[in-house]
Amino acid sequence: MTEISKAAQALKAGHLVALPTETVYGLAADATNPEAVARIYSVKGRPSDHPLIVHVSSVELLDRWASEIPSYARLLANNFWPGPMTLVLKRSDLAKDFITGAQDTVALRIPGHAKALEILAAFEALGGLGVAAPSANRFGRVSPTTADAVANELNDYLSENDLIVDGGESEVGLESTIIDCTSENPRVLRPGAVTVEMIEQATGLDVVESGSNIRVSGSLKSHYAPVAKVVLDEIPNLGDGFIALSDVQTPFGVVRISAPNTLAEFGKGLYAALRKADELGLARVVAITPSGAGLAVAIRDRLTRAAS
Ligand code: TXA
Ligand code: MG
Repeated sequence: MTEISKAAQALKAGHLVALPTETVYGLAADATNPEAVARIYSVKGRPSDHPLIVHVSSVELLDRWASEIPSYARLLANNFWPGPMTLVLKRSDLAKDFITGAQDTVALRIPGHAKALEILAAFEALGGLGVAAPSANRFGRVSPTTADAVANELNDYLSENDLIVDGGESEVGLESTIIDCTSENPRVLRPGAVTVEMIEQATGLDVVESGSNIRVSGSLKSHYAPVAKVVLDEIPNLGDGFIALSDVQTPFGVVRISAPNTLAEFGKGLYAALRKADELGLARVVAITPSGAGLAVAIRDRLTRAAS
């Protein structure tokens, strides 16, 4: 049996599959199976009222999971899926309370990773309708961007029939942009690689500032945090870890753990750098936040959470 069909069958049988996506690795389960979804929460150690993103392989499934879909949401879907974007929409009857955290909305995404799409399509060919997949980390920790990082996080909690699928290093490295599409204008709940500028360009609408009271666990103030203490935009001390764009020099006596040349490289390598800080046993990491709009917004968001 191929790795793809093995993963699809494991999902159909109610097991967990850690699967690669272009943002971060997800811990997937059949989104219509309450027992399977309950195992996601126990493996992650996550409070069970936090809603999950449902992943599907094609836009045809959008109307199965959501209702009253505004035309700008369809524009976003057509422009940015498969890709690093999640849409929050009014739910259909298929999206039960154990997926939505008992809210009347559901979060949906088509991931832009070939292996993820193949697994989702194979699962749907077996009659599956979608998989719920939070990032494959323990609650509050840094999201994994490699299969090894998933194994380090979750090996002690997964069971025999669960799988980890290796799809290489996640290209984007930051979780998807979450866009609330339940009002007249799109609202960004979590910034990501699909930027405000891209959303406005695709829809012709103004993006509303966040401040929604919809629950987003990634929006808890402290999140995405390594063991090392993360400090922003300070002069590092001797022995501190240091993350900054490559044009920022490494101060004397400091451990440079990341020197990206571009914002895209910054995002892609950020979580690996935070994990490296812990592997090296560093007590403190200083990060110099990138300025400006676009992807810099998401990088600053994650660094701020890691630091709080
Ligand atoms: O890039 C991603 O989105 C990754 C990959 C695996 O797809 N997944 C991910 O899932 O980041 P997770 O569970 O770590 O973060 C999903 C976020 C949570 O903060 C959750 O609260 C929010 O999505 N969310 C889910 N359903 C929602 C809903 N109905 N309304 C508002 N926020 C929702
Ligand atoms: Mg997460």
